[in-house]
Amino acid sequence: MTRKPSDRDEAQGAASALAPIALPAPALAGRGTLAAALRRRRTTREIGGKPLPLQTLSDLLWAACGVNRKLGPFGMPGRTAASASNSQEIDVYVVLKQGTYLYDPRGNRLTPAAAGDLRPLAISHGQGGGESAPVRLVYVADIDRLANTAGFAEPGLRDPDVQRSYYYVDAGLIAANVYLFAASLGLAAWFHNCDKPALAAKLNLRPDQRPLFAQTVGYPAK
Ligand SMILES: Cc1cc2nc3c(=O)[nH]c(=O)nc-3n(C[C@H](O)[C@H](O)[C@H](O)COP(=O)(O)O)c2cc1C
Repeated sequence: MTRKPSDRDEAQGAASALAPIALPAPALAGRGTLAAALRRRRTTREIGGKPLPLQTLSDLLWAACGVNRKLGPFGMPGRTAASASNSQEIDVYVVLKQGTYLYDPRGNRLTPAAAGDLRPLAISHGQGGGESAPVRLVYVADIDRLANTAGFAEPGLRDPDVQRSYYYVDAGLIAANVYLFAASLGLAAWFHNCDKPALAAKLNLRPDQRPLFAQTVGYPAK
């Protein structure tokens, strides 16, 4: 008996048209000082369409929440961004023109998640702007990873209010890293709302995976 393809099958079929992207090893030596980046940090909404070199994308993602030590708390790798109980529950989806990929910090690569240009959905409906910017990062909380953390299992991790406070903070810490990395390179960065239901559908997320915010990065428009 043939089965009607589900939305999940279709999304996976579309994503399978994309190849994984192996990222070059992060190379952030000589990127300027933290003090200079703090002085330059700001939201820039006028962003041009020029693509980011793959090395810059790799460096950006590593700065966001990459692995910065093999052995961090609770026996897991440590990351550039702190997370509650080292749960590492925020996934970064990298929205590019040709498709959307899930950043795999341990493998240092991008795994295809959906084909097609989702950049217009990575900003909230009615807000618009920046659709031609090369990269939009979408921060998605995985509640299951938080509730069943491999880290310190404190009771609060099963309380929805506590969970919410944790995953919003954890996403904010990643976004702050992105702002500072962008400032250090003279890139434009813009943290903003996103179309959560549309992204959840297109990325085929489970109900306990929640898109929270997005951040657009590129070169400042001339
Ligand atoms: C939680 C949060 C949500 C935001 N949402 C939006 C948004 O939807 N659209 C937008 O243009 N800017 C958004 N911003 C950017 C802020 O407007 C911006 O950071 C603020 O005006 C301060 O400007 P600065 O980043 O240049 O210091 C958001 C910032 C935060 C922290």
